[in-house]
Amino acid sequence: METSAFPAELIRRLQEAHHIVALTGAGISAESGIPTFREAQTGLWARYDPQTLASPEALARNPGLVWSWYAWRRSLVRQAAPNAGHRALAAMERLVPRFTLVTQNVDGLHQQAGSRTVIELHGNIMRTVCAAQRHVVTQWAPVPEGEAPTCPYCGSVLRPDVVFFGENLPPQALEAALQAAQTADVMLVIGTSGVVYPAAALPGLAKEHGAWVVEINPQPTPLSDLADTTLRAPAGEALPALVAAAWPRQNT
Ligand code: OAD
Repeated sequence: METSAFPAELIRRLQEAHHIVALTGAGISAESGIPTFREAQTGLWARYDPQTLASPEALARNPGLVWSWYAWRRSLVRQAAPNAGHRALAAMERLVPRFTLVTQNVDGLHQQAGSRTVIELHGNIMRTVCAAQRHVVTQWAPVPEGEAPTCPYCGSVLRPDVVFFGENLPPQALEAALQAAQTADVMLVIGTSGVVYPAAALPGLAKEHGAWVVEINPQPTPLSDLADTTLRAPAGEALPALVAAAWPRQNT
């Protein structure tokens, strides 16, 4: 992406910002090979709707199916490496007085890229907890294909430590994200379809409190209208170019 593609006002806002907040969604990890949730799925799991599988009801009805789906997603995460978009955000954190990264992703790729202040709104897929008591479990007895393992402490079914549809977000993470949004000078909204709340409310909250909102997404979303700038490009292209344009003398 050409650095001249960016409006001068956006570059000035970035350079003068005391606090930049980035809100990321599945789109930033798409270029690392992790499928998004709402775009057409291909392959093995194409016929399952992620929104149906990632629910307490699905876990109760068919724990083996939910476990297998997450085992597949975990295998993708294990093979994945951060991409240029993740790395650009980690670089940006070192260039501004204050930077907060709020992510809906559960893949840990921001931390792997070197980001330090990361708020995980939807949990982390690599941690395992039990459904009944939230015991954190690191080892379990193997089970046949199509079944879910159980908790060594209480016997309830195991699940990844992610937020399912219909479940509350971790309260501390949500509170920290709300605080960050209210004190942001610039909010970058990257690779999210903007339909899952409360995360999707953060850009509006930031704007109400005076932030300049920038959307980075190849596709329009319900958040596009409130954005002050929209960059219709993949995050892996737009973010490194944006960092280079705003901080040209830094060796990132
Ligand atoms: P979605 O799958 O809903 O949306 C992904 C967005 O990324 C879309 O708007 C795409 O246009 C955009 N996109 C695709 N490739 C991109 C790229 N290379 N660069 C930038 N953007 C790109 O994912 P989320 O908005 O993250 O929650 O979904 C929100 C939540 O719904 C997820 O955290 C998950 C899901 O169910 C839970 O599991 C609780």
